[in-house]
Amino acid sequence: MFPEIAQTLVSKDQIAKRVDELAAEIVADLERDLDKDGHTPLDEGRVTLIPIMTGAMIFCADLIRSMPVKLSLGLTSVKSYPGASVTSKGAHLASEMPKNLKGKHVLVIDDILDSGQTMALVKELINEQSPASLRTAVLLDKKARREVDINADYVGFEIPDEFVVGYGLDYDGYYRNHPEIAVLNADALTNAK
Ligand code: IMP
Ligand code: MG
Repeated sequence: MFPEIAQTLVSKDQIAKRVDELAAEIVADLERDLDKDGHTPLDEGRVTLIPIMTGAMIFCADLIRSMPVKLSLGLTSVKSYPGASVTSKGAHLASEMPKNLKGKHVLVIDDILDSGQTMALVKELINEQSPASLRTAVLLDKKARREVDINADYVGFEIPDEFVVGYGLDYDGYYRNHPEIAVLNADALTNAK
């Protein structure tokens, strides 16, 4: 699809299979939580998923279609890789955080856990609202680059320390629509900062 793609790290089939597995794990945990609360999964408004835009949009879209649970979505947006950046320039909130999370079972969804700054910021802001539970799901985990002591509750794949694109992840705003997780060739990264 894109000649600049040098190598596929995670294929479409691998992603689809893993997303279904993660969804099943998440649903089982949520049902246990709701049960403990004396609620059933059909109770209104108890589960809120918060995808971190824009990278998490495709992962979230696939994940929720494998989650037969009554849930609502609350979007948030965090910027840390402006323009042609390939390393974090420090996470900051670029939109409002969803409100009314008190007493909710919240799942934060992101495409990748890298330095950990994005997830740490979002978790801190959500915890201020006293949710009933707070968990995190990421498709990819680049452990080698962690700067903050944080891990996700659900991880699709651990990947090596490479800058990746596709399935929601971008370089300079592009390649989010590539259906696999891939590495770009050096020519495509000439403006990388
Ligand atoms: P962190 O704050 O460093 O953990 O970075 C998390 C955010 O940076 C993710 O939400 C992604 O949007 C972006 N990011 C981190 N690594 C990559 C990558 O390899 N490719 C594309 N985006 C990335
Ligand atoms: Mg992001």
